[in-house]
This record gives sequence, structure tokens and C-alpha cells, in this order.
Amino acid sequence: MNKIGSQVTIAMDGPAGSGKSTVARRIAEKLGLLYLDSGAMYRAITLLAIHRGLAADSPELINQVKTCHIEFTDNGKKILLNDKDVTVEIRTPPVNRLVADVAKIPEIRSQIVKHQQRIGAEGSIVAEGRDLTTIVFPDADFKFYLDASVRERAKRRLAELRKQNVDTTLESVEAEIQERDEKDITRAHSPLRTAEDAIIVDTTNKTIDEVVDFIIAQVGKQEIGL
Ligand code: DC
Repeated sequence: MNKIGSQVTIAMDGPAGSGKSTVARRIAEKLGLLYLDSGAMYRAITLLAIHRGLAADSPELINQVKTCHIEFTDNGKKILLNDKDVTVEIRTPPVNRLVADVAKIPEIRSQIVKHQQRIGAEGSIVAEGRDLTTIVFPDADFKFYLDASVRERAKRRLAELRKQNVDTTLESVEAEIQERDEKDITRAHSPLRTAEDAIIVDTTNKTIDEVVDFIIAQVGKQEIGL
């Protein structure tokens, strides 16, 4: 059993760079829950499209999504696609370039949502992405929306890229983030939006630990009915 009692679903949404992946992963570790990285699932399907040479909106790809097997292991640290570990490959540039086009296809989204709901039904989870609080788990026990200023999110992304020896500027990363926000917020299907009952957490001037502690405190407060 996890540390907060019976089966529980914590859902988190927010834009790229809001810190939700790191925060969700740490909360999952601390509370003994499964971490569900929904973006990784869209990335895995994108990889499938690349490997099989299928267009994002092709009926063949939609069929593959229906029948493929996606599974998280190692408490959400690894993702398996049809039993193959694709954890590293889903973060490579070809996937980065194509994933938004795959994630906007409604038939693909509806299949991935089914996979996510199946995982959620199997046990307690911390799930994060763009539509977890609104579409995938509208009845989640806890909902959070993480946000941060564009400048702060660009600084975080720049630091990651510098670690990978990628030579770029803050201005260009900021422009990329703005473009991604625009795509996430304005797309026709399941755009990024704040669920009415989500707690909004502005992470701009907070450390990861501060955000994690804040969320765990909120969960603890509601659990014991304060
Ligand atoms: O969070 P990420 O960068 O791994 O997400 C990859 C892509 O998938 C990004 O284009 C947003 C999209 N995505 C989505 O549409 N819905 C989700 N629940 C999670 C990610």
C-alpha cells in the first residue's frame, strides 16, 4: 500500500518547463506511487511512427496505437513499447520534432487516454501532462496546475541544453517555448487548460523541493480532512 492510504490519483498539468515532470517523479518516489509520464506515451507512439515510416495521421498508425503495448517499469523511470525499452530513444531530436503533430490527432489521443486510464485503474499514480486533470482523470483525488513565467521556463530549458552541450541562446529557447505554448493552448483537441478545481502552483521563484513539499502538504491536508 502507498503512504497515503487506499488507491489515489494525483493529476498535474502545465506547460513545458513548469517543472511538473521532476516534481511528479519526486512525489511518486516520496509517496510510493507510480509515476505516469503521459508525454512519454505520445513520444513512444511518435517513435513507432518513425520506425514504421507512418504519417502521424495515417489509419495504420491509429491501428498500431490500438494494439500496441505500452508499459512503465522501474516505478515510471522506464517506458516499454511492445516490450522494448525505448526510454532513451523517445527523447531524441527526430521524436522532439514530430511529437506535437502526433499528439494533435484526436484518434491517437483517445487511444492513449484509454491506455492511461487503464494504468490509473490498476493502482495509485501521480500523472502529469497537458490534459490529465481535464480529460484523462477528471475525477482525480488531487489536481494541480503548475506554471512559471516564460523567461524562467526558458532559463531552465537552457540549463538542460547546456548540460547536453547544445549551443543556443536564451532568446531562441524563449521563442521555442512560446511557440510550443501556443500549439499546446490553441490546438483543437484537448488543449492545455486549467481545470476549475485544480490548485495553481506558480513555480517561478520556487525550488523543486519547495514545490514538492507544498503539494505533499496539500495532499496530506485533504487526506486527513483539515
Ligand atoms: O511533456 P513532453 O514534452 O514529454 O510532451 C511531449 C508532447 O506530447 C508535447 O508536444 C505535448 C504532448 N502531450 C500532450 O499532448 N498531452 C499530454 N498529456 C502530454 C504531452
